[in-house]
Amino acid sequence: MDVSRNKSRIVVTCLNRLMPWVKQEITALGFGINGTFATGLELHGTINDCIRLNLNLRCASNVLYLLRDFTARNPEEVYLQVKSFPWEVVIQPDGYFSVTSHVQHPTVNNNMFVNMKVKDAIADRFREQTGVRPNSGAGLQGVVVHLFWKENQASLFLDTTGPSLARHGYRKKPGAAPMLEALAAAAVMAGKWNKKTPFVNPMCGSGTLAIEAALLATNRKPGLLRQAYAFQHVIGYDAAFYQEQMEQLKRQVMAQGPTIIATDLRTEAIADARYNAALAGVDHLIRFDVCDFSKTRVPAGEKGVIYFNPAYGERMGELAELEKVYSRIGDFMKNNCKGYTGYVFTGNPDLAKNIRLKASQKTKFYSARIDCVLLEYHLY
Ligand SMILES: C[S@@+](CC[C@H](N)C(=O)[O-])C[C@H]1O[C@@H](n2cnc3c(N)ncnc32)[C@H](O)[C@@H]1O
Repeated sequence: MDVSRNKSRIVVTCLNRLMPWVKQEITALGFGINGTFATGLELHGTINDCIRLNLNLRCASNVLYLLRDFTARNPEEVYLQVKSFPWEVVIQPDGYFSVTSHVQHPTVNNNMFVNMKVKDAIADRFREQTGVRPNSGAGLQGVVVHLFWKENQASLFLDTTGPSLARHGYRKKPGAAPMLEALAAAAVMAGKWNKKTPFVNPMCGSGTLAIEAALLATNRKPGLLRQAYAFQHVIGYDAAFYQEQMEQLKRQVMAQGPTIIATDLRTEAIADARYNAALAGVDHLIRFDVCDFSKTRVPAGEKGVIYFNPAYGERMGELAELEKVYSRIGDFMKNNCKGYTGYVFTGNPDLAKNIRLKASQKTKFYSARIDCVLLEYHLY
């Protein structure tokens, strides 16, 4: 078995409602897609294809490479199937592995139990075949084996990613209510920004939207910001191919970007946003300012985008204050952003009614399980 050359089913997972943007990214890389579902999509390819996907995808979570499909009516049958797989061609005997799973089966009420079964099966296989066994644990720093098991149908995958791709590695100072990086990337891609005109992001918080906009506009891919992936621990991994892909990512970067402006009322938020942007390598591409959003200087005569992610609030007092903030956001967009397309990402559509503009488009997202919507406004 040569996992760098064998083609198999690849499943790319993502957070609920991000699939259309992962699909767009995968299609742009030239891959065909065989099927989609709420939290991911399927294609066909090699581990080297998984390497490309891992380095390039902004909106995905994990890239899974199928090892084997099988039927299992109970955990014992899972154990026997997993034990019969030749793990010694995938995991180094002195290596490290961990097990994750997605299980919906009447015989299981705790995934940890199934993970343990899979781990035992791999360890027992190694002991019988080689007399030694690799270490294992909960950390995702080695080979990651993933079991999907639903209605007696099971699939055993190599999770080629390890820790999720949804974090892009630069946000060391998250601030109060940060957007997940993959969500921010999808939320920017969901708009009509052409990546050449100004991107203005008042209320920027830790800077995620402005940073993702800068990364997108200058073709900086997430692989540039990450060194460790689970695929690097698989026997037969093509290190030369990985290096080539990294070199290609570096060559693709555009030195110049469009005007990107990020402002926030709080000095600490701007300090955090600058720090995060520097880690992402895009601080020189963003103009930061501390000010009330209504004082943000929007370049006139341009067809850029103005992008807000205001707080959505939960307590009553907070809501009354926020109604005024949303109303002022509406006024600001009407009076100061002519020719722009406005976006408001919020978890509270009732608050958004205070904007008093008609949304031309509504795109649904989830942020940490909260139903959210991205509202689009044409500001004539
Ligand atoms: C929900 S957070 C934005 C989170 C951001 N998208 C991120 O990923 O970190 C809202 C931000 O609005 C800022 N803010 C609140 N009222 C403001 C005002 N009147 N003018 C400017 N910024 C304000 C807060 O300081 C906070 O950083």
